[in-house]
Amino acid sequence: MSWNRTWGYLAICVLTFPGILCSLQEQRQVLLVSFDGFRWDYIYKFPTPNFQYIIKNGIHVEHVTNAFITKTFPNHYTMVTGLYAESHGMVANEMYDPVLNDTFSMNHMTIYNSKFWEDAYPIWITNQREGHRSGAAMWPGTDVKIHDVFPTHYMLYNESVTFQERVAKLIEWFTSKNPINLGLLYWEQPDEWGHILGPDNPCMEEVIRDVDKNLGYLVSELKRANLWDTLNVIVTSDHGMAQSSRDRIIELDLYVDRELYKMIDHSPTVALLPGEGKLDEVYNALVNAHPHMSVYKKEDIPNRLHYNHNSKIQPILAVADEGWEILQNKSDGFIWGDHGYDNMLPEMHPIFLAHGPAFRRNFTKQAMNSTDLYPLLCHMLGISPLPNNGSLDNVKDLLVSSVPGAPQPRFLVDYQQGSYAFYMGIILGSILIFIFLLAFVRHLTYSQTPAVWGRQTEMTQPLLQP
Ligand SMILES: *[C@@H]1O[C@H](CO)[C@@H](O)[C@H](O)[C@H]1NC(C)=O
Ligand SMILES: *[C@@H]1O[C@H](CO)[C@@H](O)[C@H](O)[C@H]1NC(C)=O
Ligand SMILES: *[C@@H]1O[C@H](CO)[C@@H](O)[C@H](O)[C@H]1NC(C)=O
Ligand SMILES: *[C@@H]1O[C@H](CO)[C@@H](O)[C@H](O)[C@H]1NC(C)=O
Ligand SMILES: *[C@@H]1O[C@H](CO)[C@@H](O)[C@H](O)[C@H]1NC(C)=O
Ligand SMILES: *[C@@H]1O[C@H](CO)[C@@H](O)[C@H](O)[C@H]1NC(C)=O
Ligand SMILES: [Zn+2]
Repeated sequence: MSWNRTWGYLAICVLTFPGILCSLQEQRQVLLVSFDGFRWDYIYKFPTPNFQYIIKNGIHVEHVTNAFITKTFPNHYTMVTGLYAESHGMVANEMYDPVLNDTFSMNHMTIYNSKFWEDAYPIWITNQREGHRSGAAMWPGTDVKIHDVFPTHYMLYNESVTFQERVAKLIEWFTSKNPINLGLLYWEQPDEWGHILGPDNPCMEEVIRDVDKNLGYLVSELKRANLWDTLNVIVTSDHGMAQSSRDRIIELDLYVDRELYKMIDHSPTVALLPGEGKLDEVYNALVNAHPHMSVYKKEDIPNRLHYNHNSKIQPILAVADEGWEILQNKSDGFIWGDHGYDNMLPEMHPIFLAHGPAFRRNFTKQAMNSTDLYPLLCHMLGISPLPNNGSLDNVKDLLVSSVPGAPQPRFLVDYQQGSYAFYMGIILGSILIFIFLLAFVRHLTYSQTPAVWGRQTEMTQPLLQP
C-alpha cells in the first residue's frame, strides 16, 4: 500500500527540484550602487557610454517615484527598508525628536545616534539574520550600529576615500573565502556638483562624464574579478536635482518673526517647530504668505506623500514649488541646485538600471516605486522581506523568471560557464538528494508508524488520485 504514497513523494520531489534550481539561479549576489543626486534624465542630456552599456544589456526603469521628502537620508533608507519615510523614521537630513529631545544632523556626528535609525530594520540586518554576509562602502547608515548590528563588513564614512578604494573593498568582500551576498556602494557625485553648479549648467557635462567613468571602472573591475556574469548589479540614486535662481527665493522673515519658531530642516522642504503655544500664529502667518510655498499643519500633509505618522515630523511643513527656495533671509546660503521637493516632480526622480543573471536584457519599464526595490532585493537574495510598502509583483517583470521558458535555458548557460566548484556542487547535491530519497523510500516501505502516516496521507492523497 505504501508504494503509491512513496511514488507520490518521489513525484513531488522530482517536480519541485527544477523549481529549487530555478530559484537558486536568482538567489545570487547583489550589488546595489547609488550615485547621489543622479537625475533620471542625465543619461539623455550628456554622453554616458557606460550607462548605455548597462541599459543595452540589462534593464532600465525610466521613472522611479522616490520617497518624500526627496532628500538623501530618507531615500537611502527607503531603498533598504521598502518603507515610506514616516514608517522608517529617517524623515529628513536634519531632525529633531521631541520624544528623545535630541537632534540629528547629516553634517554632524549626530548621525551615529542609533535611536534615529531604529524605527526600521534595514536589509543588511535581515540578510545577516538569515545566515548571509553583507558589505557596505559608505552607504548612509551602514557605519551606524542599528539594533545592535553592523553590516558584516563596512567602511567608516569618509568622503575622501576614492571611488576606486570603495570598489576594491567590495570586490575583496565578494571574492573572499566567506563571500558577501549583498554589497552596497555609495558615491557622493553628481549631487555635490549639482548643488554648486545647478543641473542646467553646461559644466554638468564634465561631472556626469566623470560619474560615467566611475561606472565604467566598476564594470571593468567586476569583469576582471570574474564577477560581472554572476553578480546582479543595480545602479540607482536617491533623488534628482532642480535648478534654483536668485529670483526664486521666499524669505520667511518677511512674514513671521523668527523668534516664534525653530527651523529644524531646511529648504526647499522646511520643517518648523513653533514655540510653546505659537502653532496657530506661525501657521496663519505663513499659510497664504507666498504663491510658491505650500504650508501644512502636520495632520493636513497630503496622504499621497505618506509623511504624517512619525514624531520626528514637525508640526508645520512648508514645501516650495520646484525651483524655489525657502530661506529666512536672502543673505542666508544660496545654492544653484536643490532637491527635497514633491516626489511627483520628474526632476526629483532618480536613475534606475540593472544588469545580471536575474535581470532581463535590453528591457525598458516605464515606471516603478522606489519602495518596490526592497522586496526585489529580498527576492534576489532569497531572504524574507519584513513588512514594507512595496510589492514584488510591481517589478517582477524586470526578472528573467517572468519570461516564460527563459529560466531553464539561462540556467543551462550559467551551468556550462559556471565554476568547477559550482558544477561539482550541483552533482554532489543531486547525488545526495538521490541517496536520501532511496533511504526515504526504503524507510517508508518498511515503516510501521500509522499515526504519522495517517496525517500525511490526507495531504498527499489528492495528488495521487488518478
Ligand atoms: C532638551 O534638551 C536641552 C539640551 O539639549 C535642554 O536644555 C532642555 O531642557 C531639554 N528639554 C526637555 C523637555 O527635557
Ligand atoms: C579619510 O580618508 C583620507 C584618505 O584616505 C585619510 O587621509 C584621512 O585620514 C581619513 N580621515 C579619517 C577621519 O579617517
Ligand atoms: C537679513 O539680511 C540683511 C542683508 O541682506 C541684513 O542687513 C539683515 O540684518 C538680515 N536680517 C536678519 C534678521 O538677519
Ligand atoms: C533592444 O530593444 C529594442 C526595442 O525593444 C530593439 O529595437 C533593439 O534591436 C534591441 N537591441 C538588442 C541588442 O537586442
Ligand atoms: C506605486 O504605488 C502606488 C501606491 O501603492 C500604486 O498605486 C502605483 O500603481 C504604484 N506605481 C507603480 C508604477 O507600480
Ligand atoms: C507601510 O508599511 C508599514 C509596515 O507594514 C505599515 O505599518 C504602514 O501602514 C504602511 N503604510 C502605508 C501607507 O500603507
Ligand atoms: Zn543633495
